[in-house]
Parts: sequence; structure tokens; C-alpha cells
Amino acid sequence: MIREKFEVKVWPSEYPPSKQEILEMAKDCKGLVTLLSDPIDEEVISMLPNLKVIAQYAVGYDNIDVKQATRRGIIVTNTPGVLTEATADLAWSLIMSVSRRIVEADQYVRGGKWNVAWGPQLLLGSDVFGATLGIIGMGRIGQAVAKRAVGFNMRVLYHTRSHRDGLEEIEKLVGAEARRLDTLLHESDIVSLHVPLTSKTHHMIGRRQLGLMRAGSILINTSRGAVVDQDALYDALVSGHLGGAGLDVFEDEPLSKDSPLLGLSNVVLVPHIGSATTKTRATMASMCATNIIAALSDEKPPNIVNPEVLQ
Ligand code: DGY
Repeated sequence: MIREKFEVKVWPSEYPPSKQEILEMAKDCKGLVTLLSDPIDEEVISMLPNLKVIAQYAVGYDNIDVKQATRRGIIVTNTPGVLTEATADLAWSLIMSVSRRIVEADQYVRGGKWNVAWGPQLLLGSDVFGATLGIIGMGRIGQAVAKRAVGFNMRVLYHTRSHRDGLEEIEKLVGAEARRLDTLLHESDIVSLHVPLTSKTHHMIGRRQLGLMRAGSILINTSRGAVVDQDALYDALVSGHLGGAGLDVFEDEPLSKDSPLLGLSNVVLVPHIGSATTKTRATMASMCATNIIAALSDEKPPNIVNPEVLQ
């Protein structure tokens, strides 16, 4: 789509470019298509004088210094809405996998350990049906996760900092109830995180908050790794205070090959694949292209995150 209208240079590796490589390759560019692994900070933005638009191929854009972009008159766009259901599906995949120990069970069979036909105590998990689900962040993805809980007859609690569209509908449909963060952590069997990463949400789930969670409860993170203090999470899992965790995102990605999390059997780890379905990624791609084409054609892009830049 972009090539039909503009000259395009594509970074040739699947490894992300360094800041230096971005600066070299993009020095004359008017538009950038970025991934969440591209560091578009103040320095990069200030050294690309021709830049008019940064089009992020993701809904989250914490890798981009939006304030600095706005100051320099650069439009920033993202891909909201189209990955909501895929990400909610993944959060639920993790809820089910951790609660019912699916990955461990699969390894048990493949590892040749299944020697007794049926065992009353074999691989016991925890019930999802009828459990209390605590959702932190009740935007589009949090609400989509809540809707799926109806079929599991769950009590749904939520915590959100700001009023979000659709909340009343969810309260009616799901019977979801608002809670303060501490209360939600204390009352939930499963806690699922759906907040963007900002200076306010960085380590929002730290040692104290993990301590408030119910003994044996489960933490699911499909938002951003740094929302959780990963060292504190490891301690809470090793001590047996938490029953398990399902993690799609990490403080550093890719997860280090010697991360202690790799040694824990009560954790399901997946490599940031929340939006990774063929259909979702294709829709994100065309949305991203539509955004950058509009901005470079002096039209208002449909998904602008800093609309004040146009004023
Ligand atoms: C996002 O869009 O922010 C996801 O983390 C990746 O699709």
C-alpha cells in the first residue's frame, strides 16, 4: 500500500535496528513505520529533521517519546481496536493453561512420565468456572476479557483509573464491579493486566501488591512487562504465595536465556504473541499503512495518538 505512493526503504533484518542504525537508514525519511522494539526516543526524534509521521504497528507506543514528537510537530499513530479480541483470546489461553496446568501436562506425556492410567492426585489445577476474575485496566481489551468470563460463571471485579466507554454495558452484561486496586488484588483468584505502560503504571504490581494477592492465585500479563516488578513476581512464585503466572510480556524482551522464570513449572511463558493471528496482523498492517499514507498526503490519519499536534 505504501509503495504505491511513496519510496520505501525496509530494514532488512528481523532483529530490531539500534538507534544508530535507525538514524542512518531514516535520515532523509518523512515517515517511519515502527515496531514496539524500535527505540524512538528524544535523541532519535531530534536527529530526524524531515520526519512528519511515526506510524506504530501496534496499539501500545511506549517505545516512542510522544511528547517530544508533538513538540516537533510530528504525528504519531497506532493500531487500536483491531487486536482487542486476539489479545483477549490470548489472555484467556493463559488463564486456562495456568489454571489447568496444560503445558506441564503436555510435557508430562511427551516426557514419557505417563505410566499410570489415571491418578486421583495427578496434575491437579484450580477451577476457572465460578472463580473471581480481577481485571486491571478496563479499556477495550480488559472489557473483551470480561465478556468471555460470562461463560465461566465468574465474578468479575475491575480496576480502572479513568472512565472508559462501554463500562456501563459491561457492568450490566457481566455484572462486573469496580474495586480499588488493593481490594481487587485481595479478592481475586485470577488477576489479568490490561493497562498501557506509562510512568504511572511502571511496576504497578510490585512486591506489596503481589503480597496482597490471595494465596494460590494466578497473575496474567498480556500488557507490558514493566507493569510488573519481575523480580518480585519471581519471589512470589518461588515462595508458593502465588499459584502461577501466565506471561506474554517481560521487562526485557526477548526474555534472557538465563532468566530464573524459565525454571518455574507453574509459569506459562509465551513470546509477546497477544496480537499474533494472521487476520489481526494483516488488519494492523493495513491500518498502519493507511495512517502513514494519510499523514504523508497532508490528511488527518484515522488513528492519531497526539491530535494536538494538528492544532
Ligand atoms: C501491541 O499492539 O501493543 C501489542 O503488544 C503487539 O501487537
